[in-house]
Amino acid sequence: ETTRRFEFNVEWKKVTRLCHTKQLLTVNGEYPGPTIAVREGDNVEVKVSNGIAKNTTIHWHGIRQFRTGWADGPAYITQCPIRGGQSYTYKFTVEDQRGTLLWHAHHSWQRASVYGAFIIYPRMPYPFSAPIQTEIPVIFGEWWNADVDAVENEMLMFGKGANSSDGYTINGLPGPLYPCSVKDTFMETVERGKNYLLRIINAALNDELFFAIAKHTLTVVEVDAVYTKPFTTTAIMIAPGQTTTVLLNTNQLPDSTGIFAMAARPYLSSVVPFDNSTTVGFLKYKGASGNFMPPTRLDRLQLYNLPELQDTAFATRFDKKLRSLASSQYPCNVPKKIDKRVITTISLNLQDCPANQTCKGYKGGRFYASMNNFSFVRPQLSMLEAYYHNKTAGVFTSDFPENPPKVFDYAGVDRLTENMNTEFGTKLFRVPHGTYLEIVLQGTNFLHPENHPIHVHGHNFFIVGSGFGNFNVSKDPDKYNLIDPPERNTVGVPMGGWAAIRLKADNPGVWFIHCHLEEHTSWGLAMAFVVENGPLPSQSLLPPPEDLPQC
Ligand code: C2O
Repeated sequence: ETTRRFEFNVEWKKVTRLCHTKQLLTVNGEYPGPTIAVREGDNVEVKVSNGIAKNTTIHWHGIRQFRTGWADGPAYITQCPIRGGQSYTYKFTVEDQRGTLLWHAHHSWQRASVYGAFIIYPRMPYPFSAPIQTEIPVIFGEWWNADVDAVENEMLMFGKGANSSDGYTINGLPGPLYPCSVKDTFMETVERGKNYLLRIINAALNDELFFAIAKHTLTVVEVDAVYTKPFTTTAIMIAPGQTTTVLLNTNQLPDSTGIFAMAARPYLSSVVPFDNSTTVGFLKYKGASGNFMPPTRLDRLQLYNLPELQDTAFATRFDKKLRSLASSQYPCNVPKKIDKRVITTISLNLQDCPANQTCKGYKGGRFYASMNNFSFVRPQLSMLEAYYHNKTAGVFTSDFPENPPKVFDYAGVDRLTENMNTEFGTKLFRVPHGTYLEIVLQGTNFLHPENHPIHVHGHNFFIVGSGFGNFNVSKDPDKYNLIDPPERNTVGVPMGGWAAIRLKADNPGVWFIHCHLEEHTSWGLAMAFVVENGPLPSQSLLPPPEDLPQC
């Protein structure tokens, strides 16, 4: 057994992008943060020391945390935050997972700059045969010239949409299409005729992204640290919190320069000019003579592989291609039967503006977001500790409604008046250990259709079905894929549609479920569930570590 130890110092660091210098929140002064690389089966210990005058926590996104919920990281769900000057050592084992994940801060909007890759090398050789020349991390993020706390606070205070970031980034670099940014461009040198493994991570706060490389195809082999049936595509779609590992074969003849652009831009966004929404980097073939081209020559960058903004047809096609590998070595353990089905709406709500407030949401109201019309209120204490010590009064209640509160229609007859006002609460539901659980996530259209990348903590799940419009409980389950559905930790619920996920609830603890668009989580698009201890000691939550932070 190997234990791998890491030290994370959360600290401010002066960073300049787009000709703006600011104090950026970082881990060890790095942006993006350090990569954690471990082997399947390793014990991991990360000592996080908080050197700033604000609270923080770190989440190991997609790591199962079997029986070690104390190390999961979401503030006030599984722990109280680490206060300035204090430290906390996250201890967990990485078992039965392999591939690319990410870690990120899980307190307010600190994920804006506090994130990095989490790589798990497999015990067994890769199930794809291509010999890999080298690995290339491709981590997407967003850069704000403004202070991110101020962006978040203004959004919450006035119930308005958040100001968008000033640029998307690849490995912290916006690239040459942004003003004052040519020198901050990601460039990777490759050899012709080799296979590269790209570990693609979307750590952006608020946007699903398309990504492509000019003239090259990408072969998807793994998502969210689970192998897939390999498939080749000209572009990928990736939601915040998702990871996608692809093979890249450098099979092009170098063109006049030997340099090929790679680019990412949002799937949905308020329509912004192309040049302001696209982060660009470059692949440079070894021996190529050229330099990358200045932004004025965008037309020559051959970005034609990249789908257009709002290309839902591409997004749908891409999602349907994702299948579990489902081999004898890596079987697909999708539950064929379920013990419980929870159907929940995922909604944006427009609330009337309270008399004593100023609101800047649509029509002078303020925005919230909800699941089954309850907008999640973050408690003041750790939900996991409350559950563990059986002192839940005043922290949460176990009455999350398991069905939508009233008849709804994704296309709402009068979508601006119907079911707009949400209720508030810290609600979860409880399931016995080992429950085969189905959750149907129903997007609604009260404001306007949106994609919601829904993330479940502590469990992977299988996406057994999805579609547009309303989920039909008497018809849709008959069409589920119970053979090789993709296994993930974050599902992009189709715009104006639904997704059904199944999991075996066998990890005791309190687990957060939320939209991985930070704006929506802040508005309350979240809930949680408790998985109770099982009959065997090996099915119980371990006791809390001694250095667990207190509220
Ligand atoms: Cu990656 Cu709860 O988050």
